[in-house]
Order: sequence, then C-alpha cells, then structure tokens
Amino acid sequence: MHPCQGKNLPAHRKLSQNGSPCNRKEAPIKPNDYLCRMSTNPMPTSENKKIIIAIDGYSSCGKSTVAKELAQKLGYLFIDSGAMYRAVTLYFLRTERIVDGQVNTSNIDEWLKSVSIEFRFNPDTQHNDIFLNGENVEQEIRQLAVAQNVSQVAAIGKVRQLLVSLQQEMGIKKGIVMDGRDIGTVVFPDAELKIFMTADPVIRAKRRYNEMIARNEAVDFDEILKNINDRDRFDETREESPLRKAEDAVVLDNSHLSRGEQFDWILRKYREIVG
Ligand code: CDP
Repeated sequence: MHPCQGKNLPAHRKLSQNGSPCNRKEAPIKPNDYLCRMSTNPMPTSENKKIIIAIDGYSSCGKSTVAKELAQKLGYLFIDSGAMYRAVTLYFLRTERIVDGQVNTSNIDEWLKSVSIEFRFNPDTQHNDIFLNGENVEQEIRQLAVAQNVSQVAAIGKVRQLLVSLQQEMGIKKGIVMDGRDIGTVVFPDAELKIFMTADPVIRAKRRYNEMIARNEAVDFDEILKNINDRDRFDETREESPLRKAEDAVVLDNSHLSRGEQFDWILRKYREIVG
C-alpha cells in the first residue's frame, strides 16, 4: 500500500477508495492536503538535505516528464505548475469567460473565489492528479483547446498571485520538484537547483504530436507546432513573470538527448549540490 493511503495520515488527509476526502467538514482542505511524495525506492537522502528543484523552460520540452522521474528517484513531491494554469483555463472556458481567445477579466477576484485547485494522489498511476472544484481534470486539461488559451490566462496577474501562493505553500517543507515558467525566478527564487530546459521547436512539436496520437486524439502537426511557437512568444513577452532563465539556472538543451541521458545529466547536477 502506498503511504498516502496509509493510516499515518491525519483523518482529513486520508483518501477514500474513490480518492475523495474523508472527514471534509471537520478539517478545512488546504491545497496540499492530498499531496504525496513519490516513493518507489527513493534514493536515500537525509531529511536536512532536502532541497527545492525548480525546472523552467519552453513549452513541450519534457519538463514534467523529467521532473516526475526525478521526484520518484528522490522520494520528492512533484508539482506540475502548468497543470494549475491549465485547470484555471479549463474553468474559464467552461464558464464562457473566454470568448474567441479573449479572457473577460472583469470581477476576476470574485470569479477566482469559486475556483478550487488541488492535487490528489491517484493510487492507480501513483501520481498526484489535478482536481478542479472536486473533479479530476488531469486528462481534460491536456486538450488543444486548453493549450490554445492557457497563455492568455497565465498572463493575468490575479491568477498568478493565487497560484504562486499555493505553489509556495507546497514547497514549505522542501523536498519538491516543481516545473513551470517562473519557478526559479518568482516562486522559489532561493531554490538550490534551477534548471532551464530548451529544445528545437520542431523536435518538441513531434514529441507532443506523438503523445497526443498515443492518446487517440485527432491532431494536426502544424497546429501543434504553431501552438508551441505562439505560447513561447507569449510567455516570453508578457509583463507578469515572463519566461526567462534565472541567472543561477543551468541550461539543459535536450534536442538530441535520450530520456536516460537527460536524466543522468540532471542527477549529476543534483549530486553536485547535495553530495
Ligand atoms: O507542458 P507544456 O510545456 O505544454 O506547458 P505547461 O507546463 O502545461 O504550461 C502551460 C502554460 O501555462 C504555459 O504555456 C504558460 O503560459 C503557463 N505557465 C506559466 O505561466 N507559469 C508556470 N509556472 C507554468 C505554466
């Protein structure tokens, strides 16, 4: 049994069989109540050596894949911050706050009060899935309609303030790998290890195309490539926390690296810091 389903958790953190919370009324749910550290044979590390690993970079570079692998290896928490921006985007699409690519930002404070974003451990996949207002939207947020609008939503200051504060709370105890666009610059400027990932856009589009085909989605390669280029440009030029490399980040161009080579590279950087 995975520790996240175990009896050591306080009652309100236990998961019922369908992954929904027990005892919800008695204990208010905080964003990281259901979070779970990856724990398949984690590499031994002493508690006091737990660090924060920030992975930023361009769209579809494989940040989340490598971050997840790393978290698994180290027994760390993995957080895909992009999933949080995607979940808010999905909410805005569903509530018709986005029309023809334009986000209606009036009363945004009030709207955001009705959005609850949390991660809950999924015993089948052994990962934390993202929930929007209590619904598992892990798959739905990956659709192209969300990808086509997420950068506009992520450029809204109020949305960023809300999500950044949730992200910072998740990192309080360290032992976390978080990937995104502003993790090393804004969310955790003191992160001990910062990696900035990049790769050739066509190679990135091919990877994303293959992923979506594997999920039986009807996709067009040119549309994906355009989305990647558009998002990169948008993310780099927005006023609020634009995508940029932190001064103390190390650059990883994985255009011609296998997953294994890339992983070894990151692990070496980790060991240089933690020993
Ligand atoms: O996985 P992929 O590279 O497609 O993107 P993602 O990590 O899921 O992020 C989706 C979008 O959310 C990005 O294009 C950014 O506009 C935004 N984002 C952000 O602004 N800040 C973050 N920390 C993470 C994502």
